[in-house]
Amino acid sequence: MLPPTLFQYSNIDSTLKAIAPFVVPMAVHYNPITKEPYLQLPAPCANIIITPYREHQIKETVHVMTGILNDPRVYSWLQGPPFPFLPEHGESWVEMKIQENKAVLSALQKEFEANIEQDNAPCQDEKEIFDKCPFLCIREVGERDSCGAPVQDTLIGEIALIRYQFYELRRNSWELALVQAHHNQLPVGHDDLIWSLGYYLSPTHHGKGIMSRAVQTVLRDWALPRMNLKHLRGSWVVGNEGSRRVFERNNFEEVGSFKDWLPETPKKNLGKMSIVIMEWRGLESAASGVARAP
Ligand SMILES: CC(C)(COP(=O)(O)OP(=O)(O)OC[C@H]1O[C@@H](n2cnc3c(N)ncnc32)[C@H](O)[C@@H]1OP(=O)(O)O)[C@@H](O)C(=O)NCCC(=O)NCCS
Repeated sequence: MLPPTLFQYSNIDSTLKAIAPFVVPMAVHYNPITKEPYLQLPAPCANIIITPYREHQIKETVHVMTGILNDPRVYSWLQGPPFPFLPEHGESWVEMKIQENKAVLSALQKEFEANIEQDNAPCQDEKEIFDKCPFLCIREVGERDSCGAPVQDTLIGEIALIRYQFYELRRNSWELALVQAHHNQLPVGHDDLIWSLGYYLSPTHHGKGIMSRAVQTVLRDWALPRMNLKHLRGSWVVGNEGSRRVFERNNFEEVGSFKDWLPETPKKNLGKMSIVIMEWRGLESAASGVARAP
């Protein structure tokens, strides 16, 4: 039986054939043309990848984000991004994320190069643990080269893991400040760290099983092996059935709800909104939940 490697070159078909059915692939893929690491969703969403932000595509990225985040089918359910979402919001967000992830991506690049030098032999060394997930951009691949490397793709959404914000504690309270200060000083990969999950997808791609699998992929292929993620929470706005289902299918359970927690955003005209907090119960049954996805 072949041991799983943490990096796989981008011929997804041969990669899967090489390791299936013996092991579930746990891989950060590497595009040999662009030198970009990426995560690959499983079938039937194999045309979807998750990449870092690209420094050379900031304008295009912001253009797509602005379109998606000003669509009522998306902004109505989001708690974070400003509304209306302007190009300058997008630019500072993307630039910030590029800076934040530079160190992780450069460490990954060194690992890839070391892997190549070892003639692509499976690397058994203990891998570095990171405090970030640099895989944020969900993209639909339009074209691959003969080896399976994506050569053309389109941004269709985002997924993010950040340190948990402790919604259950009163805003601006001393309790919140205390807990956040303690949590923020926990070192990289600490077992007590709690992470928080957020995501959105272009309405053109809703209901195709993409986000259910994107969550599963980020957890299995990055957050567990490379962040030592142990605790994960997320929240959805009451009424957002799609998001509730994405959490449920990934083995999250409801642990609390907060009535009228989100203050009214005048331009959205939605009034106060209630949220439900979900907690992740592990990968095992999550995989079977997503396997049933459309
Ligand atoms: C929520 C969202 C990410 C779901 O992504 P998706 O790729 O469409 O979800 P999936 O296709 O994986 O579907 C998961 C389940 O939700 C259901 N679903 C998806 N959209 C739905 C909707 N608008 N209403 C009801 N159910 C919906 C699917 O039918 C599927 O159900 P099943 O498990 O019973 O088969 C996407 O709709 C979205 O981006 N919405 C706007 C932004 C948002 O809500 N972000 C989350 C904030 S917490």
